[in-house]
Amino acid sequence: MTTPILPQIAALNIDSIADAPGRVVVICDETGKLDQSGRRINKLTRGALDRLVGSEAFAKMKSGDAVDLAYPTGMAADAVQVIKLDRKPDVLVTRRAGAAIGKAAAGKPILVLAGSLRMVRELVLGAVLRDYAFVDHKTAEAKPGATMTVMLSKPEEHENLVDDVKALAEGVFFTRDLVSAPANVLTTTEFANQLDALSALGVEVEVLDEQVLERLGMRTLLAVGQGSDSPSKVVVMQWKGGADEAPFALIGKGVVFDTGGISLKPAGGMEDMTMDMGGAGVVSGVMKTLALRKAKANVVGIVGLVENMPDGRAIRPGDVVKSMKGDTVEIINTDAEGRLVLCDVMWYAQERFNPTGMVDLATLTGAIIIGLGHDNAGVFSNDDALCNAFLKAAGAEGEGAWRMPLGASYDKQLKSNIADMKNVGGRPAGSITAAQFLQRFVKEDCPWIHLDVAGVASVKSDTDLAPKGATGWGVMALNRLIADKFEA
Ligand code: BES
Ligand code: MN
Ligand code: ZN
Repeated sequence: MTTPILPQIAALNIDSIADAPGRVVVICDETGKLDQSGRRINKLTRGALDRLVGSEAFAKMKSGDAVDLAYPTGMAADAVQVIKLDRKPDVLVTRRAGAAIGKAAAGKPILVLAGSLRMVRELVLGAVLRDYAFVDHKTAEAKPGATMTVMLSKPEEHENLVDDVKALAEGVFFTRDLVSAPANVLTTTEFANQLDALSALGVEVEVLDEQVLERLGMRTLLAVGQGSDSPSKVVVMQWKGGADEAPFALIGKGVVFDTGGISLKPAGGMEDMTMDMGGAGVVSGVMKTLALRKAKANVVGIVGLVENMPDGRAIRPGDVVKSMKGDTVEIINTDAEGRLVLCDVMWYAQERFNPTGMVDLATLTGAIIIGLGHDNAGVFSNDDALCNAFLKAAGAEGEGAWRMPLGASYDKQLKSNIADMKNVGGRPAGSITAAQFLQRFVKEDCPWIHLDVAGVASVKSDTDLAPKGATGWGVMALNRLIADKFEA
């Protein structure tokens, strides 16, 4: 488990600056006028800060950029990190500025001189989220616990800051840790165990085993897992923080490893398929955040946990399987397994909870990466109001999301000669036909969003708020959607 480094909030004490170890962070606005802390640092360093803010290099820096004054004379610190931040910065720029602090932290103690910065919460959130490393399996590099102190002119005005950041960061880190975990460690059973632990935070957790799933008729989900030695499971997580009303449902694809099954994937890059539980990872992270901040909303998170392996017992191309809904599916390609897992879980969610709305998340198609790359998740919806609310929430959190179309003509591509539908619709519009498949399992009156997160769940280069690897994309957007929709 990766625990976020949370700050200690303290009253500004400029006499502590000279002896502060590690890194000292100071913020300068575009005018180059120094605040009280800046003036003290300038004095200690005999004018170094004035030279910096008067330089051409500083003039060229954008709001949110940072630069180091290394081993400054007159101070104990290894570096003074100077952050340029406009007097009226926006939320995402301020988070990016904070990320510069987190990125440079590398286990050292940090003193952030935030003075009277109004958006200090965003600065701290950026720093905490960017200071992440997945070191569970590094024997030598376990990161020493660093500390962060944030000094404020009026600390009493920011009482909830740490709890607030903690709830978000622990949710995001939970998602990142799950997505990063190798499949021999994060088996279906281990995943379920980690979710079971959320009950300590007040989440009601049920783990449905294969016998129960069989009895419920979840044949398409079970078909995906039948080639694996790890048992398939569905985990139901209920957060009941709201009034007595039906919950909002979050559904996640949790394929702990996707070999493709009998339709085996090529060897190159197959190791990346440890992240094929990314949708379930986001659902898990959101549930953790909601519980930590005691959200005043009813939300149920349901994840389908399976492993897609080739085996003597595995499903084959040509097999026909009956879903819980009753519709039959001809399996053309065993690598199109995510939709087989989701359709049963989505149907179960609607039958049992009659939710006020439903969002499913899945690393569903390679095609969405071809279409949108790694900057935006694909958004599909049958409900403009819910969809627009989500897009707005995602925009506010800086999590890229782009709406894609649905339509009857795409749906035709799923026609099967021998069953109610095929599980693939051919190469054209692969992400859309996958969404069309899912929509067949959404009841007419249920507002629904499908998020194809194949391109954003884990990436090969650093993002604004995360090092390369698992991003935690979606936790903050969904948390905000729930806050906007049910708690405003
Ligand atoms: N898990 C994959 C999709 C994926 C690809 C996720 C790359 C993350 C990165 C999914 O199960 C899959 O294999 N989809 C197939 C569907 C095809 C067989 C219709 C794909 O995208 O090739
Ligand atoms: Mn697959
Ligand atoms: Zn998959």
